[in-house]
Amino acid sequence: MKKLMTFTLIVGFLSMNFSTRADEGMWLVSMLNRITMAEMNGMGLNLTAEEIYDINNASLKDAVVRLNGGSCTGEVISSQGLVLTNHHCAYDAIQGFSSTENDYLTDGFFAKELGQEMHINDFVISFLVRIDDVTDRILDGIDMNLSEEERDEAIASARKALMEEMNPDGDKELEVKSFYYNNEFYLFEYKTYRDIRLVAAPPESVGKYGGDTDNWMWPRHTGDFSMLRIYADASNEPADYSDSNVPYQPKRHLRISMDGVSEGDFTMVMGYPGSTDRFLTSWGIDQALSLYNPSVVDVRDLKLKTMKKHMDADPAVRIQYAAKYAQTANYWKYYIGQSTGLEKLNVKEEKEILEDRFENWVNASEERQNEYGEALELIESYYDDTDVSVKGKVYALEAGLIGCDISLFAFRFYRMAAGLFSDDPAEVEATKARMNAFADSHFREYDQATDRDLFVNLMTKFRDDIDPIYHPSFFSIVKKKHKDDFDRFAKKMYAKSFLVDADRCAAFIANPSQKALEADLAIQVGQSAIQTYFAAMTDPAEDKFNRGYRLFVKGIREMDSHRMIAPDANSTMRLTYGQVAPYSANSVEFDFITTADGVLEKKDNSNPEFFVPDALDELIRNRDFGNYADESGELVVCFIHGTDITGGNSGSPVLDANGDLIGCAFDGNWEAMSGDIAFETELQRTISVDIRYVMWILDKFAGANNLIEEMDLVSGLR
Ligand code: ARG
Repeated sequence: MKKLMTFTLIVGFLSMNFSTRADEGMWLVSMLNRITMAEMNGMGLNLTAEEIYDINNASLKDAVVRLNGGSCTGEVISSQGLVLTNHHCAYDAIQGFSSTENDYLTDGFFAKELGQEMHINDFVISFLVRIDDVTDRILDGIDMNLSEEERDEAIASARKALMEEMNPDGDKELEVKSFYYNNEFYLFEYKTYRDIRLVAAPPESVGKYGGDTDNWMWPRHTGDFSMLRIYADASNEPADYSDSNVPYQPKRHLRISMDGVSEGDFTMVMGYPGSTDRFLTSWGIDQALSLYNPSVVDVRDLKLKTMKKHMDADPAVRIQYAAKYAQTANYWKYYIGQSTGLEKLNVKEEKEILEDRFENWVNASEERQNEYGEALELIESYYDDTDVSVKGKVYALEAGLIGCDISLFAFRFYRMAAGLFSDDPAEVEATKARMNAFADSHFREYDQATDRDLFVNLMTKFRDDIDPIYHPSFFSIVKKKHKDDFDRFAKKMYAKSFLVDADRCAAFIANPSQKALEADLAIQVGQSAIQTYFAAMTDPAEDKFNRGYRLFVKGIREMDSHRMIAPDANSTMRLTYGQVAPYSANSVEFDFITTADGVLEKKDNSNPEFFVPDALDELIRNRDFGNYADESGELVVCFIHGTDITGGNSGSPVLDANGDLIGCAFDGNWEAMSGDIAFETELQRTISVDIRYVMWILDKFAGANNLIEEMDLVSGLR
């Protein structure tokens, strides 16, 4: 599950095997304590907590990497810095290298030697160095009588002091993250490598097989993997891209287990889940169901239809917009599924039961009333206050800022442009170089006609659906000077602006003028869109939210102190464990594996989502599965297991009881799409590609034995 850019009642027959378990909880890897370790060891894990996370010796955490700040996860699988992740995590990069002549999206890409590996622009991979609990430092001297604003200020200055102390020379990469709604704080240190190269990607017909139809669903037949390599300088340290860089030598890399999975097997996933809302209240669910989710879906629906029209008409546009389309569709479908799940699984009622229990617990003592008495009132009042504005807030982002490309591009361009007018000639030159690179990468994925259509359609929808008090300021110009017609406005903007055309843009950078910049219509659109977005994000009601949830979460943890409650995801390294397990929903029983035969059953070469290339069809038909088949001779493609993951976990290693790699996680199942809000033990599954399918594609389909040779394949160890 790739991270989003921005935020029981079991129906049917449960023929579940109750000895198999799915476990809620994305545990901080440094917090594996007696309880979690005992449970994991009881389920079969053969490792100690130190073998998973240790700051003095190489441990599993050293093989798990964060991609681009947390959009995805990867794992190191050779002593030569080879990294496995999902196909959809490298999708942008694969698309960037593709053209109608060299279409790696369609045909795949497999480097047969180091020299063929392609450097990816603006792609970084980080290692976690250490985690420290700094809660006491941050909250020292903060008491409950402070107002929310005073509290925020005190926290901010404590954070700053801590950073200065820990990083006197400013050469360390440190991050302080809040947990449990500002009740706990941890410090993270990272080390980031920035010369990353694309090594292998299967064709889309493998890596994205099933497309958006199968996305977020099981059963799945997708080989959603790709491989990258980390390059370092001669001392194995991070360096800018250079020919002289060499493959990074990791502290620790994973072995590849060829043993496959059986029902009930222990699995664990380590990675970088982005965000969850497990403490969301019943009022929050109401707002999500009635306002937030439908608005996102509605705006994205129009965006997708508009892009698709242009992509279908022109193969070059299809490649240019492939990643944007997939990204938009991914969370479009996610919110449809989340709403369906929330309704169907009666999540609101479950939350109400918890809230009632909380209230009774609070009311049972005066001390609790003093501390937690206002929590639920504040939360309820926050949602009351924001019901009128939440739709405008969604549109400010989804239509105004990211609906078409021009708004965000213009805003960023404007911000960078300050350096063009500096008195320092060196700064002017440096800015020009930066802006040229920025414009190049933007225009590579830009089609003016598509963008113009997106602009007109989405801004018109924004105007029609949303109260004018939430409109971007430029809407009034469209109204006064262009008969309230975005098409008329666009005609002028796309004819005159230098931001909608690569040549005009380059000419401006070469010869910048402050006057031309300020007068450009696209700049005005960008500035107005960003202001509207910031205004929408800074609602005065936020204080109620922050205080309400902070107290509610603190209270729940005190009320239920007999059990461990995991913190919500926040793009920090977590571990989750569970067993390989089938599930049933709506009277249908779902097996825990899919096999290569299923690829052919789904095949439909008239539908690009289910296209199977002849070479793959033949390999499967000939049952040429080599050592990669399971005991019954079948080639397993994907499997499911009861671990707790979310967006950002895409590409995470699925490890067996020995910490060896058995799969690569890439998705979750439709029946549990409300899982980010309430984990569904009986229903929720991680969907992973079986590592043996990855090896089979490399070996039989791609002939990339060079890659298999650098890995450590093991079997018979469990
Ligand atoms: N739902 C998965 C995720 O969020 C996969 C997305 C890519 N696949 C696709 N068909 N768009 O990471």
